[in-house]
Amino acid sequence: MYRFHPFPLPGPYGRGQWFLGDCQCITAARRAQRSAWRELIEIKPVDPLPPALQSHAFDNFKVAPYNEEPYRICSAYVERFGELKNGQGLILTGKSGTGKTHLACAVANALKERYVVRFAHVPTLLEKMRSGSVDLEALVNAQLLILDDIGSERESPWTTERLLIIVEGRLVHGRPTIYTTNYEAADLDKRLGMRLASRILGHNVALVLHGPDYRLQRYGY
Ligand SMILES: Nc1ncnc2c1ncn2[C@@H]1O[C@H](COP(=O)(O)OP(=O)(O)OP(=O)(O)O)[C@@H](O)[C@H]1O
Ligand SMILES: [Mg+2]
Repeated sequence: MYRFHPFPLPGPYGRGQWFLGDCQCITAARRAQRSAWRELIEIKPVDPLPPALQSHAFDNFKVAPYNEEPYRICSAYVERFGELKNGQGLILTGKSGTGKTHLACAVANALKERYVVRFAHVPTLLEKMRSGSVDLEALVNAQLLILDDIGSERESPWTTERLLIIVEGRLVHGRPTIYTTNYEAADLDKRLGMRLASRILGHNVALVLHGPDYRLQRYGY
């Protein structure tokens, strides 16, 4: 029996002579169903960086004489990352708002498609560790780990021990880590303790970011 059909019947066929697959309603419905299934089964890769840090890149970092050297060394670090031996990393030091987290994330963003990268803001990480909700293995085994703001955590023997587990774990596996901190390299032992500072300073190149506080500059201060 002829039923109203919203689309014209395919050209070469008369009424009653067309195939199910030629019907635009049916193909559209099948297409919709396929894409619904795809959405259900597709595992979207999770970005290792928090949303606000995903856009930090080398090409939106303003280079000036006061930050040119750390910028150049971080870019070269990305270029040479595949050749790194024994887990050499970087320590980005400097005052607030000078671009330490920006540069560390520029490295992470440039490498995250090719390598397993993890990012952790140290005070937040330690807070999560208190409630036991941290995948320590993932932090120790990542091919690159960013430990942001080390030294700004509330210090205790417990926090030092947790950090030692991560830092030492990465060292023995030859995994590189990038640290950012407000403390000068020479003061890290006073802030973090000798054992932690010795491991961090002994395996990484320290870079100092100078210049204005970009956060304040943005608001005209
Ligand atoms: N050279 C730069 N060019 C462009 N934007 C910059 C530059 N330096 C910093 N910024 C921007 O300023 C803001 C603060 O930078 P960032 O978070 O890297 O500072 P920080 O040195 O890590 O500070 P803190 O010690 O407080 O953590 C960010 O939005 C960052 O993108
Ligand atoms: Mg920072």
